[in-house]
Amino acid sequence: MCAMTVLEAIRNRYSCRAYQDKPIEQEKLDQVFEAARLAPSAKNLQDWRFVAVTDKETKAKLAAAANNQQFLEKAGAIIVACSNCDEVMWCGQAIGPIDVAIALEHICLRATELGLATCWIGSFYPDKVRPMLGIPEDIAIIELMAIGYPADRQKEPKREPIEKILCYQRWRF
Ligand SMILES: Cc1cc2nc3c(=O)[nH]c(=O)nc-3n(C[C@H](O)[C@H](O)[C@H](O)COP(=O)(O)O)c2cc1C
Repeated sequence: MCAMTVLEAIRNRYSCRAYQDKPIEQEKLDQVFEAARLAPSAKNLQDWRFVAVTDKETKAKLAAAANNQQFLEKAGAIIVACSNCDEVMWCGQAIGPIDVAIALEHICLRATELGLATCWIGSFYPDKVRPMLGIPEDIAIIELMAIGYPADRQKEPKREPIEKILCYQRWRF
């Protein structure tokens, strides 16, 4: 089988909000999390920690904690992406959310390549998720991510033209 190029995976990825009620094979989950494991991180801290929830009842509870985004229930898995790092870099930005975001996007792209779809979920209550999964207080719950077999199709992505987001040499926006 001919693997997708990185550009093809980037182009094919989209936020999937309708999933087939179908489990993800363990082999595919392994491959997806391997892509996260290989992500870069500040000081190579590898501070990300993932809880992959495949249990139906817990997925329903997570959907409720995510402002009732019902489509989450059907996703093969909901990834609860956490960081054990509360450090800030020299530049003043927090390490945890950046490291976790990079690893999650690796997951998105690898999932796309494997015929799975994903959706980033930032609309959720960490305080509701924490006791549900026994996540300790000193661990930041950064983001949720739905992953599974899609029951919808990609729409034309809405994106700004390149000149709106890029300039060379000096700030010219
Ligand atoms: C950090 C982040 C948080 C997001 N949170 C949600 C969410 O809670 N629910 C949702 O349906 N989509 C969520 N999205 C998906 C965005 O709405 C989506 O990426 C954007 O509209 C572009 O569409 P596309 O991903 O299909 O290209 C989130 C995306 C990101 C990157």
